[in-house]
Amino acid sequence: MEQTKIILSEKEIPQAWYNIQPDLPEPLAPPLHPKTLKPLGPQDLAPIFPMELIKQEVSQERWIDIPDEVLDVYKLWRPTPLHRAYRLEKALNTPARIYYKNESVSPPGSHKPNTAVAQAYYNKKEGAKRIATETGAGQWGSALSFACNLFGLKCTVYMVKVSYGQKPYRRILMETWGSEVHPSPTNLTNVGKSILKKDPDCPGSLGIAISEAVEDAATHDDTKYSLGSVLNHVILHQTVVGLELKKQLKIAGEKPDILTGCVGGGSNFAGFSFPFVKDKLDGKKIQIIACEPEACPTLTRGPYRYDFGDTAEIAPVVKMFTLGHSFVPPPIHAGGLRYHGDAPLVCLLVNKGVIEARAYHQNSVFEAAVLFARTEGILPAPETAHCIKAAVDEAKKCKETGEEKCIVIAFSGHGHFDLAAYDAYLNKKLEDYAYPEEKIKEALAAVPNIE
Ligand SMILES: Cc1ncc(COP(=O)(O)O)c(C=O)c1O
Repeated sequence: MEQTKIILSEKEIPQAWYNIQPDLPEPLAPPLHPKTLKPLGPQDLAPIFPMELIKQEVSQERWIDIPDEVLDVYKLWRPTPLHRAYRLEKALNTPARIYYKNESVSPPGSHKPNTAVAQAYYNKKEGAKRIATETGAGQWGSALSFACNLFGLKCTVYMVKVSYGQKPYRRILMETWGSEVHPSPTNLTNVGKSILKKDPDCPGSLGIAISEAVEDAATHDDTKYSLGSVLNHVILHQTVVGLELKKQLKIAGEKPDILTGCVGGGSNFAGFSFPFVKDKLDGKKIQIIACEPEACPTLTRGPYRYDFGDTAEIAPVVKMFTLGHSFVPPPIHAGGLRYHGDAPLVCLLVNKGVIEARAYHQNSVFEAAVLFARTEGILPAPETAHCIKAAVDEAKKCKETGEEKCIVIAFSGHGHFDLAAYDAYLNKKLEDYAYPEEKIKEALAAVPNIE
């Protein structure tokens, strides 16, 4: 009988994370200090991050051992299954073979705890008592709440206001794991206060929530800051996904032709695809597709240049594709895909043409999500649905050409807390929204001019 799920044993959880930095076609441009615009040193980051994570951020070691304490928690849900999407293939009548690596089986329901657990562990080890963070859709906040709770740390979450309103159940989940959750912008930080003064109805953005959480950590000695995406160490931790996938594809006797993942800050996409990027750089033919919303088209329409990581200009300045750090995205339902920039590691590889990027409107994305739910059963997160759309498009192309390609989807999370979005789609209330060109130009005018 044909295998539907390829499942590894707990012994096969990777024992080391893969760091792509030594294998890049060119080194990353250095991150800059937000005030001096000079390259950042480790001491600049020490007030907000534990030293071990700062070391990982700049490490040139290809492999970094995963601590036993982290592996022990990973065992709660890892290794995650690789599914063959037979029913989706049948519905599409495609000769393509479609697989999905299912990160939705973690307790918070996404890939995010792969790094949350590691970050909570290093913070605890270095004496932090509390972690402050931001969250968009609530997935990252839930993952960090889950991880902090297991390691006995307090957790404060600044949740983008529009999502706080749209997703009360994610807030309740975070509170159940013991966190304090605030709708951002808040009156608790100077950044939040000044934004609310100008615009009391500001819906918030990831950039603003990051500024609030960074300020909280920088102004409290016992508190560190934690970011759920974008940074090199976050991507490093996520490589457990791609490393497991490699073993699973080998068992299935497959070599991937196409990998699709959605990109908010880039962490699940990178963790899933970077172990294969190395193969591609070594000459293998693999198409690696990064998927984003038309409403926040960072990789497809932003320029590749230095910009601040946050709205208030207190986070480092990094080289990335950007829509400008003052970008306030329209309230689309894929809350986790609304960051103005993207991981510098992903951006470098897009700029080099190793990774290609595509943007989709939300109605077409939900159409693919509903097809997936009706065939494979699992309800995808709206973020995840972006790369399902890309896989469906590619599988349809295979139907036309007769090619039997192997397509693998990064199934980053389930959508059980996103039912309001499904309701809106099913009732034809979702609007497609392409971000206007003049707004991009306007936001880019405030971006520093650094070569
Ligand atoms: C399910 C899911 N997938 C993807 C993302 C995007 O984040 P990243 O690009 O860091 O993987 C999010 C962010 O919240 C998410 O919740």
